[in-house]
Amino acid sequence: MPQPVLLDTISALRIWRNAERRDGKRVGLVPTMGALHHGHLSLVNVIREEAESVVASIFVNPTQFAPTEDFSKYPRAFERDLELLSEVDCDAVFAPQVSEMYPDGFSTAISLAGPATVGLEDKFRPTHFTGVATVVAKLLLQSNADVAVFGEKDYQQLAVIRQLVRDLDLRVTILGAPTIREEDGLAMSSRNVYLTGRERSVAPLIHQTLQEAAEAVRAGMPFDAIEREASAALTDAGFEVDYVAIRDAETLREPAKDAAPGTLRLLAAAKIGSTRLIDNIATE
Ligand code: PAF
Repeated sequence: MPQPVLLDTISALRIWRNAERRDGKRVGLVPTMGALHHGHLSLVNVIREEAESVVASIFVNPTQFAPTEDFSKYPRAFERDLELLSEVDCDAVFAPQVSEMYPDGFSTAISLAGPATVGLEDKFRPTHFTGVATVVAKLLLQSNADVAVFGEKDYQQLAVIRQLVRDLDLRVTILGAPTIREEDGLAMSSRNVYLTGRERSVAPLIHQTLQEAAEAVRAGMPFDAIEREASAALTDAGFEVDYVAIRDAETLREPAKDAAPGTLRLLAAAKIGSTRLIDNIATE
């Protein structure tokens, strides 16, 4: 595969995208924070179905990290990321500096409600989605992409972005891509590199617990009992649980007690050691 074109300014991105458009190509955007794994690469393959030209962005976005979070130690592997992207069918990489995205005097942030304020990630990372929505809006506008793809692993993020695009009338199609898992079920994540050997061996329990909980939903057990039992199982295994929640798959609000399994999503966030993991599955 040819090396992707490296673009590090917004104007270079726009010139590249205009040229692709002139050639009649639909442009697809794969936003990432780098430290790529197979989950990210699968996003390139998903978007290929809808776009003749693909740009991946690599930008560790400071505004989505709280001061207490891991911005400075977030894994960065730019050269390896470029290698990986040259092995899949990626045409360009947009990798701006922080000063390009947030020049001195930058003063705007997107204010969110709806799926961004349902008491899941937002409860534990109150400033996170404002940072995500602001950077994603910028990337969508800068690239003027026809289509963009986000992993279902960050399920609430995907819902927030769909709402953002609807509310701001952005002319882009948002695709959700299935979570890619390790053989033992652990959802792939750039943060998995933080896990020690012992933590890595218990980490798949999150997915296993969600699967058992989904089974209980299908069996008709009360939702609050399922959430309690799943949370207790993770706590017993050494996790510090932020939430295990059964939610409406669209709105992420609490569902009616008799909601059908096909309309629900099971979501969890828990810390093992100092690493916070999130995961989610459908209940059907
Ligand atoms: O999911 C991510 O990697 C990030 O939140 C995103 C969407 C690239 C925005 O920085």
